[in-house]
Amino acid sequence: MCGIIGMISNRDVAEHLIEGLKKLEYRGYDSAGFGVLNDRGFVVSKEVGRVAVLEPRSSEAQDAKIGIAHTRWATHGQPTQINAHPHVSQNGRFMIVHNGIIENYSVLREYLSKHDFKFKSDTDSEVIAQLIAHEYKNNTMQAVREALSRLKGTFGLLILDREDPGSLVAVRQGSPLVIGIGDEEYFAASDISALVQHTRQVVYLNDGEIAELTLSGYRVSNFADVTVVNEPTEIDWEIEEIEKGGYEHFMLKEIFEQPQSLKQTMAGRIIPDEGSVKLGGITAIEEDTLRRLNRVIISSCGTSWHAGLIGEYVIEELARLNVEVEYASEFRYRNPVMGADDLVILISQSGETADTLAALREATSRGAHVMGVCNVVGSTIAREAGMGVYTHAGPEIGVASTKAFITQVAVLVMLGMDWGRLKGHLSNDQTCDLVEQFNAVPDLVRNVCDQSDTIQAIAGEYADCRNFLYLGRGVNFPVALEGALKLKEISYIHAEGYPAAEMKHGPIALIDENMPVVVIATQDPVYEKVISNIQEIRARQGRVIAVATEGDKEIRQHSDHVIYVPEVNPIFSPIVNVVPLQLLAYHIAVLRGCDIDKPRNLAKSVTVE
Ligand code: AGP
Repeated sequence: MCGIIGMISNRDVAEHLIEGLKKLEYRGYDSAGFGVLNDRGFVVSKEVGRVAVLEPRSSEAQDAKIGIAHTRWATHGQPTQINAHPHVSQNGRFMIVHNGIIENYSVLREYLSKHDFKFKSDTDSEVIAQLIAHEYKNNTMQAVREALSRLKGTFGLLILDREDPGSLVAVRQGSPLVIGIGDEEYFAASDISALVQHTRQVVYLNDGEIAELTLSGYRVSNFADVTVVNEPTEIDWEIEEIEKGGYEHFMLKEIFEQPQSLKQTMAGRIIPDEGSVKLGGITAIEEDTLRRLNRVIISSCGTSWHAGLIGEYVIEELARLNVEVEYASEFRYRNPVMGADDLVILISQSGETADTLAALREATSRGAHVMGVCNVVGSTIAREAGMGVYTHAGPEIGVASTKAFITQVAVLVMLGMDWGRLKGHLSNDQTCDLVEQFNAVPDLVRNVCDQSDTIQAIAGEYADCRNFLYLGRGVNFPVALEGALKLKEISYIHAEGYPAAEMKHGPIALIDENMPVVVIATQDPVYEKVISNIQEIRARQGRVIAVATEGDKEIRQHSDHVIYVPEVNPIFSPIVNVVPLQLLAYHIAVLRGCDIDKPRNLAKSVTVE
């Protein structure tokens, strides 16, 4: 999952391409490159490492009005300069950048080698440039379409023809691509964050579409050269939202934005005056379908899967609906029993995760109802699901998801409350009470964010640890999983989350004075059970960091460190309890000198299998 951007304009494009690429860097950052076309032909510059290394090179690319650029997350071929993009065809005429995977690249390489093509790189992408050159007779677009018809896999693709400096070609099949309509200039990029500084008018390409961008306009067509009309959409993000705003890292900024993000998620949906919940995007599923529903299946990946697990507890508790949670990557290849009495909820911050998108298509093909819970407006999962709820967390740039997670949980809580009332399991008074309590949660989260310094001090005592265990019970078991994932992702410390009672069935063997154990021990019906689990750890010299409810003095006797959070209804507690775990992971990773926003080997949106 790389980031690609292209631009055709009356102004020089090199610097703007590099600026745009920086905004896409969270998609992949092991090497980068750009290629422009000016009177002297193609000017290509590519390097291992971050986009910033390309900056000085933009001066070599003067008076180029058209160009493409790429930031890489390697799938085929090591992160080397030769494997970085752009790739140019052997005859020097066609240049491409590619996001995705060409599954049949080795067959195509072999075929092209038999036609005297020599390959410089180990990538799958280079075959695309060579194939266009191979197919070229006398018409570039025809050669492009011929080449596309031979590719298997996923591709977001930008193509330049040295002999046609007036046209930039963008192709989408399985990887996200959006067109930006500027003032006498046009852009194509993997997502809107690279475009907002130039334009708010965008056109989302669908799979199987090609856009030809020229200074006089653009044309979208399908692979069979039939014109397609895609209406432009207005972007509602502000530039500031995708800047750091004085924070050292996007992750810290996004942790502190959580109270505001929650308010945005609740706005117009939580109606305290009426004591009700209104979710406009899913009216289609309401009432009779809901009554007939046999099962809700939540399918997603990573942190979104953890949100799904919390959704299972909350929706079963509030709406008495049978809920199952599935890893999308497994769900898509299993032969799941599913049909018209099932609702499949796909949760995805980016709305572009390949496995979750495939799970959506699998559910649709089996006749199930589908709905999306996404953060990125206009993303593929959101558009293909047709109905759903946007989390409105605002742009999330840090690879480690934080504000998107708690807004996903907030949406699942609102679904539980809404469906509980609709199915008559919650009386109006109960819903009213829950809505009032829920409306107070953003301020409780603010309260926890303000403890960042205290948590930083605790982090100082654990930054050299090599392993961690995270324990929680009930609705806080998935929070333990999420806390462990945050630490793994950004500090590279091995960490595992477990249901607290499961510890006795194996993981307890790991516990000694070198094993810190983070335990979520807030006030709820299983509190006493959690205290016994803590004592089992202490009996083996384990070091305990407890997340506990303000005013809980007893827990101090059983813990090395306690992080207090405000009292909250247990059904809402994951939203509050995850914040100390986000901050603990953040501060430990900072103390270990890790790259917080761009952790090694990761990317923000996983658009390949
Ligand atoms: C979370 O911090 C990670 N970035 C990752 O696990 C992420 O949650 C997963 O890739 C799913 O992404 P999505 O929500 O955009 O589909």
